[in-house]
Amino acid sequence: MTDPLGVVNGMRVGRTLLTQEAIESRVSQLAAEVSARYAGKEVTLVSILKGSFVFLADLTRRLTIPTRVDFLGISSYQGTESSEDIRWTTRLTSPVIGRHVLVVEDILDTGRTLSRIIDHLRDQEPASLRLCALLDKPNRRVAPVEADFVGFTIPDVFVVGYGLDYDGWFRQLPYVGVLERV
Ligand code: IMP
Ligand code: MG
Repeated sequence: MTDPLGVVNGMRVGRTLLTQEAIESRVSQLAAEVSARYAGKEVTLVSILKGSFVFLADLTRRLTIPTRVDFLGISSYQGTESSEDIRWTTRLTSPVIGRHVLVVEDILDTGRTLSRIIDHLRDQEPASLRLCALLDKPNRRVAPVEADFVGFTIPDVFVVGYGLDYDGWFRQLPYVGVLERV
């Protein structure tokens, strides 16, 4: 694929759901909310790979509190609920015991992945544990996970761009668009 807006497996980017301007303005507001909530504290941002890298980059640069950044990568196997099937592709580089942890995620969908991540982090006894998701699809929720900070609540459509992918593609788009069949 040479064109970033090309066709992959018969799918392409259709209508724009969130413009670059809308995202920029909402991320600034979120950063202000997060900074206010943690005023006087230090925060460890735990970014979930890979989808949250663009959101993380924009959010961190607008935070006015001291932060450190760490990454967690998880690959979950489909068709099983067993926590034994979690495979960490990237692990934290510093312990989070006693730290204020804010998980930064691109999208909260069924909540399955995030509930596992939250259990894993809670076991490490952070001082506090909160979740910030750029996008939330509440209609899809299966696991009981809610975000403390949400950028946009969106309908049940598959979206790409601003870090979100389809089969690894389209992360580079500066806006969020709806994936459609060609
Ligand atoms: P959950 O465990 O179902 O909440 O999975 C969330 C993960 O699924 C996200 O981190 C994304 O990687 C992926 N995902 C869910 N919905 C979308 C979407 O609309 N576009 C791209 N990725 C999505
Ligand atoms: Mg993801």
